[in-house]
Amino acid sequence: MNQDAVVHYFTGTGNTRHAARIAAERLRAAGWTVSERPMDRCPPEAGTAELHWFLYPMYGFGAPALVTRYLSALSAPPGARAAVLAVGGSMRGEPGDEGVSLHRLSSLLRKRGFTVFYTNLVSYPINWTQFFNPPTPAESARICEQTDERVRRIADAVLRGETHLRKRSRRARAGLGLIYLAYRSLGRRLLGKLFTADDRCDGCSACARRCPASAIAMRHGRPAWDWRCEGCMRCINACPREAIQSSSARMLVFAAAGLLPFWPALAAGRAVSAPVLSLLAGTGVFLAATGLFLLAADRLLAFAGTRPAGRRLLAPGPSRRFRRYRGPGDGVGPSE
Ligand SMILES: Cc1cc2nc3c(=O)[nH]c(=O)nc-3n(C[C@H](O)[C@H](O)[C@H](O)COP(=O)(O)O)c2cc1C
Ligand code: SF4
Ligand code: SF4
Repeated sequence: MNQDAVVHYFTGTGNTRHAARIAAERLRAAGWTVSERPMDRCPPEAGTAELHWFLYPMYGFGAPALVTRYLSALSAPPGARAAVLAVGGSMRGEPGDEGVSLHRLSSLLRKRGFTVFYTNLVSYPINWTQFFNPPTPAESARICEQTDERVRRIADAVLRGETHLRKRSRRARAGLGLIYLAYRSLGRRLLGKLFTADDRCDGCSACARRCPASAIAMRHGRPAWDWRCEGCMRCINACPREAIQSSSARMLVFAAAGLLPFWPALAAGRAVSAPVLSLLAGTGVFLAATGLFLLAADRLLAFAGTRPAGRRLLAPGPSRRFRRYRGPGDGVGPSE
């Protein structure tokens, strides 16, 4: 048996990178040769290593879309074993909920030829500064210290080859799976559309260079967010001028655009008498109208963002009052 291992990880704000480093150090200390592969910057490659460890932050009870895309393109070398660690977030360090991610990623890895023998979950401070004020620096340090110790214990279990597979009931998988589906298909994209840069932005473009989803483009010296956001919160937390905000005006406009389609959908449903056809007509009109209204709202807000008065209107939002969060493994992205 060779003693080669690969630690594959994705991080938005540094927590998962920190956990990945602890895992890699622990393996090296036990005599393993370890390479670290950030999943947003390396092509999917498993090489010939015998042990593979996958670490990712949890979003909406699931794994980031770019992580599942990376895993879908991996092929396991003969005899490869895999461990999976989900990294959640909390205000006080209490363990979170792995949702459906460990179950789904394990199935995906098995399909790619890996023998999954270990899955677990840890919680670092929450990084969702669009809507939550993260823990104070002192509280964050305490949570990190507590979780670091847990990651070390997990690394030792992985080294011993211990079998540990977390299970979820069918009902939990169905319910949380729906939330994850909504997050992955639309939620994360809308999160990107809530961002705006306020008047402190100096056009340095660090946010655009660091975005792991290439979802930010600089237009006329200011960042503009497209629909590819993963929701990783790297941009809002890493902006050197704390100029990125979640905009209340954007939230209102998108909420209205999401609610309006109910009326044409109801009208379409009522216009057809056969129940199945009525449901199909209502759903079809709802989906089409939602897409149209969201695109129209996006165009309207993009236009408002080109005017100084529009920018002043878009800037206020909850994040102005919140601290920013940088995890212990911060320094991510091409400009590090
Ligand atoms: C959009 C979004 C959704 C999240 N959903 C979850 C979740 O479902 N469960 C959880 O425990 N943490 C959740 N979190 C918290 C992060 O997973 C957590 O803070 C993580 O440690 C961030 O890791 P990173 O610093 O490597 O990006 C969410 C964070 C964001 C921004
Ligand atoms: S990182 Fe901040 S200051 Fe720099 S372009 Fe982005 S929003 Fe503006
Ligand atoms: S736009 Fe911001 S939150 Fe979205 S993927 Fe890029 S860096 Fe992450």
